[in-house]
This record gives sequence, structure tokens and C-alpha cells, in this order.
Amino acid sequence: MDDLLGKVALVTGGGSGIGRGAALALAAAGAHVVVADVDRDRAMSVADEASWRGTDCFGITLDVNDPHAYETARDVILRRLGRVDVVMNNVGVVAAGLPEEIPLAEWERVMSTNLLSIVRSNAVFLPLLLEQRSGHVVNTASATGLFQYEYERMPYSVSKAAVIALSEALALYLHPRHVGVTCLCPGPVATNIRQQVTFSGAPVRMHPPVKGMTPADPIAVGEMVVDAIRRDRFLVLTHPELHDLLVERAKDPEGFLAERIRSVEGG
Ligand SMILES: NC(=O)c1ccc[n+]([C@@H]2O[C@H](COP(=O)([O-])OP(=O)(O)OC[C@H]3O[C@@H](n4cnc5c(N)ncnc54)[C@H](O)[C@@H]3O)[C@@H](O)[C@H]2O)c1
Repeated sequence: MDDLLGKVALVTGGGSGIGRGAALALAAAGAHVVVADVDRDRAMSVADEASWRGTDCFGITLDVNDPHAYETARDVILRRLGRVDVVMNNVGVVAAGLPEEIPLAEWERVMSTNLLSIVRSNAVFLPLLLEQRSGHVVNTASATGLFQYEYERMPYSVSKAAVIALSEALALYLHPRHVGVTCLCPGPVATNIRQQVTFSGAPVRMHPPVKGMTPADPIAVGEMVVDAIRRDRFLVLTHPELHDLLVERAKDPEGFLAERIRSVEGG
């Protein structure tokens, strides 16, 4: 989709961080943006900010775990804006703890919020995009889904690996049908994500993909998403170091894992 002018975009988890960055960048590119968030005030406030760019933006309350939320959102968007072109599935929550101490209920909550939310979204929005033979789906995964560099938030990293697999398979299906797919894999980004981390059992500290990696600015990440939609690019890595690590792993998977084990052991 080389031109976002007049297009309609939905961003879930749009009330903060990367979702906010994407909502503002999409509006700056000329899109009408629907900011969806479980936190109503955040959704309204970001929609208001996005409107300053001159497009028709509004906020809605949406909990990605609610099985009916996407139908309701679709109906509201179609009534107010008449179409949907971009769907950004961006919500992600983190459960931290040692693998044997994280309860099953936490696994289920994280998998539902991070992965099955996209399945719910697909069921409602893909028929529209397929019917109009145009559109773009953006799924927010994480660097932690690309390769494993820690064990302290396993439900999160496993859900994000699944989001990458789902997005790749979706690209196989949708690309020939004129619908683009982007999978955003951020390294550290300066957002509010730490506020919603839940901890189980003994305290743990979380490792970054690479020591000393500078957190990216969420507005800049939003601009990367817009660029990927315009150029129909699949993988968005927010930090060049992530690309280098993927090349390193492809060259020597055993050695790469051994190095990650040494690195977590060394703290
Ligand atoms: N910040 C990082 O370092 C980082 C790195 C890699 C991936 N990510 C991913 O980026 C995405 C956005 O995270 P962020 O860092 O911007 O976090 P954030 O906490 O700043 O924003 C997340 C937003 O999602 C909303 N939300 C939470 N649960 C929801 C639900 N059930 N339904 C609807 N909205 C809900 C929150 O209210 C919040 O406004 C997540 O998928 C996260 O996993 C973040």
C-alpha cells in the first residue's frame, strides 16, 4: 500500500507506547486512525493527539480477550468511516518468573492476549480485506520471538515466536490475494510495558537481547511501521544489532545457543 492518504487504520493497544507511535505516524501519513485500547482514557487521548494531524481519528474501548470485541469494533468503524485498510494487532503482556513457577493460568492469559487476540482479529477483519483485495495487517511480535536470549518470561517469548510464525504463514496466504503483512519485532523500546509485567514466584531479572542496547523511541518505531506498510516489507527490526544476531545464528545455530547459555549464566 504505497499511499496511506484517506485509508482507515485500526491500532490495538494504541493508547500507549508503540501503538501510540504507530497511531500518530499513520495519522501523519494521512490515514484515519481508530485507536483501540482496554484503557478508555488512553485510547481517547491518543485519538485526540492523532486528530491534530487533520484526519478523522477516534478512540474505542476494546479488550483483545473479549471474543465479541472485534465484531463490535468492525461495526463501529464501518459505520463511521466506511472501510478498514490497515489492522495493527499490537497488544502484548508479559508474565515473568522461573519456568517451573509460572502458573498455567498465566500462560493461558499471555497466549490469549498476545497470540489468540490476532486469531480473533483475523476472523473478523480478514474477510473485509480479502473482499476488497487490498489492505495490510501488522502484527507486533518481539525480538524475543526471533531467538531466545533469556528464560525469565517464557510465556511471552513463546507467544511472540508464535506471532512470528503466524505472520509468516499469513503472508503466504494473503500476499497473493493483494493484502500485505508486516511483522514488527522490536528490541527494547521506551514504553510503559514494565507497568503490566506480572511476576510469579522468586524474583527474576530480565535480560536484553544484547547488553547495552539503547531503547528505541516509540514514535520512531511507529514511523518504521508506516514505512513497512508503504514498501510492503514483512520484517521490521528496530535495531540493526538484531539483524546481525540473526545472521550469526544462521551461520552457526549450535554455537549461537551456546553463547546465549554462557550469557544468561554470566548474568
Ligand atoms: N516496549 C518494548 O520494549 C517492546 C519490545 C518488544 C515488543 N514489544 C511489544 O510491543 C507491543 C506494545 O507494547 P508497548 O511496549 O507499547 O507497551 P505499553 O504498555 O506502553 O502499551 C500497551 C497498550 O496496550 C494496552 N492493553 C493491554 N492489555 C490490553 C488488552 N487486553 N486489550 C486492549 N489493550 C490492551 C495497554 O492499556 C497499553 O495502552 C506489545 O505487543 C509488546 O509485547 C514491546
